[in-house]
Amino acid sequence: MKETIVLKVNPENPDPTKIRAATQIIQRGGLVAFPTETVYGLGADALNPSAVLALFSAKKRPLDNPPIVHVARVNDVYKLAKEVSKKAELLMKEFWPGPLTLVFKCSSTVPKVTVAGLDTIAIRMPKHKVALSLIKESGCSIAAPSANLAGKPSPTTAKHVYEDLNGRIDMILDSGATNIGVESTVVDMSVDPPMVLRPGGTTFEALKKVTSDVKLHPFVEAESELPLEKIRSPGMKHKHYAPKAQVILVEGTAETITGKIQDLTEFYRVKGEKVGILATDETQTFYKADVVKSLGSRLNLATVAQSMFRLLREVDAENVDVIIAEGVPLDGIGLAIMNRLRKASGYRIIKGE
Ligand code: TXA
Ligand code: MG
Repeated sequence: MKETIVLKVNPENPDPTKIRAATQIIQRGGLVAFPTETVYGLGADALNPSAVLALFSAKKRPLDNPPIVHVARVNDVYKLAKEVSKKAELLMKEFWPGPLTLVFKCSSTVPKVTVAGLDTIAIRMPKHKVALSLIKESGCSIAAPSANLAGKPSPTTAKHVYEDLNGRIDMILDSGATNIGVESTVVDMSVDPPMVLRPGGTTFEALKKVTSDVKLHPFVEAESELPLEKIRSPGMKHKHYAPKAQVILVEGTAETITGKIQDLTEFYRVKGEKVGILATDETQTFYKADVVKSLGSRLNLATVAQSMFRLLREVDAENVDVIIAEGVPLDGIGLAIMNRLRKASGYRIIKGE
């Protein structure tokens, strides 16, 4: 494929001519990466099977892992889904547009490839003017997984998308860094009580306020690989967020982990290995390693969510052999951060008692 076109688009006031250029690509079955409030997505017309197939192939994504379908109107949910429960309607009313994906029983109008042969479909309405105008203008529901190569950290800037997908997709709409930094929360509404399959930008605490019986799937907090029979979402079984370097996650409070991380660093450096540390604002001056970067403040986990995927890429680009990352508390957005860091580490977790 030829060089990917990159168009800068104002996130608050998208230029209609640029949106139209992107829309035309979607309508003729092409691939456009676009910003959302969580991470950049790679979009294709969800009802065009060959466009969706091209999407899987551009990302090198396994065909058994379906993308999320993005809509701009709640009405479209009733065309894509077979059953929409009262609880789902409540959640849509409260959280859409926003970082919440709902899984429904799928209507027969949706091509099999779009849902990877499942009888359910994952749908969300993103809270970003560029994403919403692209969906509205094209008149399509847009299938959009995160716009990274499969297995890599999700892209929070257009540059990350370009690094992974230049020459493999038609266009990137560049509106700067995304706001939330981790993907949407995925909740299965095809079961009762509803179940969180992936923690994300909408916190469990906030969901419980609206739907008090919502449960967490064991995978969400898993500290080791889950047995195959427990898997409820295809995304649970695939390798994810993995930089080239081995990631080790050290969990505990700032007081309990700093000494442990410095010891580990010395252990690897004595062996001649290059070590990068992902620290936090409160601890970063403590460490001596080849690369030390702060994820953000332990007192403001939204900052950690915003920078986590970018820093995994940045430390990796320094060609370190090992990345040692600090764990953060599991409250609020911390649950999503820890789910991603645990997966990125391949569950190499050390507890700093
Ligand atoms: O924030 C987001 O959700 C971003 C932006 C671009 O919207 N998108 C995103 O998509 O993260 P993706 O494809 O990288 O992740 C979709 C997740 C995967 O874990 C997939 O397995 C799960 O949703 N999923 C999709 N369809 C499903 C279904 N029918 N049942 C259960 N899980 C499903
Ligand atoms: Mg993804």
